Amino acid sequence: MAASKIIVLITGGNSGVGFGLASQLLNRGTYHVLLGSRSTDKGRDAVKDLQARHESQSDAVELLQIDVTDDDSIDKAAVTVRNKHGKVDVIVNNAGLAGMELPLRQAMREAFDVNAAGPAAVVNAFAPLLRKSSMTSPPPRIINVSSGAGSINRCLDPTSPLYGMLGYQYRSTKAAMNMVTACQWVEYGKEGIKVFAYDPGFTISNLSAHNKAENGARSAEESASSLVDVIEGKRDDEAGMFLHNTGIYPW
Ligand SMILES: NC(=O)c1ccc[n+]([C@@H]2O[C@H](COP(=O)([O-])OP(=O)(O)OC[C@H]3O[C@@H](n4cnc5c(N)ncnc54)[C@H](OP(=O)(O)O)[C@@H]3O)[C@@H](O)[C@H]2O)c1
Repeated sequence: MAASKIIVLITGGNSGVGFGLASQLLNRGTYHVLLGSRSTDKGRDAVKDLQARHESQSDAVELLQIDVTDDDSIDKAAVTVRNKHGKVDVIVNNAGLAGMELPLRQAMREAFDVNAAGPAAVVNAFAPLLRKSSMTSPPPRIINVSSGAGSINRCLDPTSPLYGMLGYQYRSTKAAMNMVTACQWVEYGKEGIKVFAYDPGFTISNLSAHNKAENGARSAEESASSLVDVIEGKRDDEAGMFLHNTGIYPW
């Protein structure tokens, strides 16, 4: 049962970084994972896979249908969690879309909806449950899974490896997510809730055709392990900032 466990909502938990994070948390034995998935079929498969990998923790993961572009789906998910658990301790806004294969305007509309409006709407709906968290050490938290490609400073810095990188679609939506993060920190930080933007680094996933080991991407479990540090409060002195695995990025 979830009674004494730390309850973590991970949106887009059925693949890539979100799945890797769920697996890392189940390894710890102290977390209850609400595995967010917009597709119930994919979500069920992911939960089964995690239960098979972590047999002793099979009660510590459950599917939560949540499409971050659909307010009804978000509200229903929040009601489900309220009725079953009464609270949430950690929200990881991980669901993401690069959309590089789509026409520019369509890609920007869809990616803004998932990457920027999604995290704002999810936190809006789940904030009452976050306030019910009794965690003090570390306190409850919101982690928005961003990307270094969304740093405006890095975009403009000719010495940055990301200078000249293509992708208005993805880059601008992650910059918008960063602003959502800053606003959430100003709003919720004063209530004692920690808020972070976090870049997991280049990771094997379904985000794009480029996210493969042969292109230098690391495993999702490896990327997620430094995200666990943020969940465990090891980087709380950097709350309100844009973190990556070994430091911080400029906004
Ligand atoms: N991989 C990297 O190198 C990298 C680097 C920096 C940042 N990130 C960020 O890491 C996060 C996770 O991405 P990933 O790399 O693990 O890619 P991924 O494997 O494609 O995972 C993305 C997840 O988001 C879900 N999703 C997409 N639209 C959604 C919606 N409307 N509602 C709910 N869920 C939705 C996807 O669901 P479906 O399976 O149904 O599509 C999938 O579960 C993203 O925010 C991404 O921007 C990734």
